[in-house]
Amino acid sequence: MMARMPLIAGNWKMYKTVPEAVETAGALVQRLADYDESAQVMIAPPFTALAALSRVLEGSPVALGAQNLFWEKEGAFTGEISGPMLVSAGCRFVLIGHSERRQYFGEIDETVCKRVRAALDAGLIPVVCIGETESQRDAGETFSILDKQLSNGLKDIVLVLNDPAKWAVAYEPVWAIGTGKTATSAQAQEVHSFVREWVAKAVGQTTADGLRILYGGSVKPGNIAELMAMPDVDGALVGGASLDPETFEKIIRYQKS
Ligand code: 13P
Repeated sequence: MMARMPLIAGNWKMYKTVPEAVETAGALVQRLADYDESAQVMIAPPFTALAALSRVLEGSPVALGAQNLFWEKEGAFTGEISGPMLVSAGCRFVLIGHSERRQYFGEIDETVCKRVRAALDAGLIPVVCIGETESQRDAGETFSILDKQLSNGLKDIVLVLNDPAKWAVAYEPVWAIGTGKTATSAQAQEVHSFVREWVAKAVGQTTADGLRILYGGSVKPGNIAELMAMPDVDGALVGGASLDPETFEKIIRYQKS
């Protein structure tokens, strides 16, 4: 099996003004000055801080990502940001379909699909977020929901997804986000292996073997090592714990903690 370079990503959500973001990212870069780069690191600040952070992160082991994008390249779409704009602001990654987008901003699988295609067209690495709610899990619907999110969210684009370096999946059970209630490593592994099998069937085994599947939902310094020890957990998408450079550094250096 192909070795997968872990990806530890921070989703800052709607936190930090530009000066606050610059300070946090600067502190993180300093803390990682001697980092052996055993994992790839990425932070996704609010749009307003992207351009400033691309300068702060230059030459560091920390890559820049955005939290969303619109699928058209340009046009009369007030308030939206396109893939080429994100690239020009220094982004390499973009989160797509986060559960908060689905919950509060009308994101559906069909729009996820358009955004993933736009990200790939722009040369960005989409991190496609999927996950079930608590009631869906309780009703035994976890796998059917994830199957639907993947099937519809990646519909018609599976052919361009054969290079596993060009995209990633983040499994974020909605009930674990911001709740302090992490999925157990066994629960995460069960879903991650389901996702990998789905990708093997839909795209191909080589793609599935190389694809990074991140876990997200109350990841902390105290639970990262256990999650990362699972064979199909290839990284983490960290919310609250990525806002503090000291805490996020501990997560990034999980092997030594
Ligand atoms: P928390 O780590 O705050 O639970 O957030 C997870 C998340 O939504 C990352 O995208």
